[in-house]
Amino acid sequence: MKITEQIKLPIAYEMDLFEQKFQLSMASKVALLNRITHYIVNRKGKQMRPMFVFLVAKMMNNGEVSERTYRGASVIELIHTATLVHDDVVDDSNRRRGFFSINALWKNKIAVLIGDFLLSKGLLLSIDNNDFDLLKIISVAVREMSEGELLQIEKARQLDITEDIYYEIIRQKTATLIAACCSLGAASVKPDSQDVETMRKFGELIGMAFQIKDDLFDYGNEAIGKPTGIDIKEQKMTLPLIYVLNNCTKKEKSWLINSVKNHNKDKKRVREVIKFVKANGGLDYAVSKMKAFQEEALAILSKYPDSPYKASLNLMVDYVIDRKK
Ligand code: IPE
Ligand code: IPE
Ligand code: MG
Ligand code: MG
Repeated sequence: MKITEQIKLPIAYEMDLFEQKFQLSMASKVALLNRITHYIVNRKGKQMRPMFVFLVAKMMNNGEVSERTYRGASVIELIHTATLVHDDVVDDSNRRRGFFSINALWKNKIAVLIGDFLLSKGLLLSIDNNDFDLLKIISVAVREMSEGELLQIEKARQLDITEDIYYEIIRQKTATLIAACCSLGAASVKPDSQDVETMRKFGELIGMAFQIKDDLFDYGNEAIGKPTGIDIKEQKMTLPLIYVLNNCTKKEKSWLINSVKNHNKDKKRVREVIKFVKANGGLDYAVSKMKAFQEEALAILSKYPDSPYKASLNLMVDYVIDRKK
C-alpha cells in the first residue's frame, strides 16, 4: 500500500465527505467562476492540510469529529487554493498540479479575482456558522502568509537574506497555515484546551520541514507538477544557496550574488549556480535542517497516547520529507 493510502485509512470516511463539502463550498451564480472552480477541483492537490485537520481532531477526541471540523478543513483548503492561484501570478508560473495554472489559461486579471473569491468564500463559511474561534486561527494565518510573501519579495530585491530571515519567511508563508490546520483540528473538538497551542507548534515545525522540501525540489529535475529551477530566476534565495553563500570564498560569493542579481534569466548561468550549490554541500545542509524540524515535530507527537490517528500523523511527518511531489 502507498504511504498516502495508509495515512488516509483512519480518516477515509471524513476525507470522502470533505471532498463533497469542499466542492459545494465554491459554488457561485457566475458561469465563468463555476467553470474555473470546476477546473480547480478536478485537479486536486495532495490535500495534506485537510488530512492534518481530521487526524488531529480525531486524535484529540477519541475518533470523533464535528461539523466544525469539516467546515474548518474546507476553509483551510479554500484559503490554500486561493494562495496558490495568487502565488502563480506573483511567481509568474505557468504550471500547477501537473496542468496549466489559472493565470496561464485565463490571465492574471482573472486569477487575482478567483483568488479573492475563494478567500472570501472561506472566511464567510466560518462567519455564517459562528465559528469565530476558528476564524481567528485562520485569519492570523492569512495575514502571516501575505507578510511572508512580501518579506520574500523585499529580500529578493535586496539580496541580503540570512538564514534566520529565510526561516522567518517560510514560517510565515507556509508553516503558519499548516500550524493553523493542526490547532484548528484540536480547537474544532476541544476549544480552549492546551492541545490547541501544542498542536499549533507541532504543525509549525512540520510546515518548516515541508517548505524546505519544496525549496529542495526546485534544485531537482523531477516531474513534480510545477516548474523547477525557477527560484533563482525569481531571485529567490533559499536555504541551499544561503548556506553556500555563507561558506565560500569572497570571490565565489561575489560571483554568486552577481549571477542572481544580473544573470538570473540566463539559463546556462543559473545551471552553473545550481551546480555550484550542489557541489558545495548546499542540499545536504538543507536536508539536515529539514530533518531537525522533523525530529522536533515527532518529539511533540510522542507525548500523546498511541492511536491509529497518531500513527497516521507519524507517517505524515515522514511523508512531508520523503514525498515525490
Ligand atoms: C504548495 O503546497 C505550496 C507550498 C506551501 C509549498 P502543496 O504542495 O501542499 O500543494 P498541493 O495542494 O498539494 O498542490
Ligand atoms: C508557496 O510558495 C506558496 C505560498 C505559501 C503562498 P512557493 O512559491 O515557494 O511555492 P510553489 O513552489 O510555487 O508551490
Ligand atoms: Mg511563491
Ligand atoms: Mg510559487
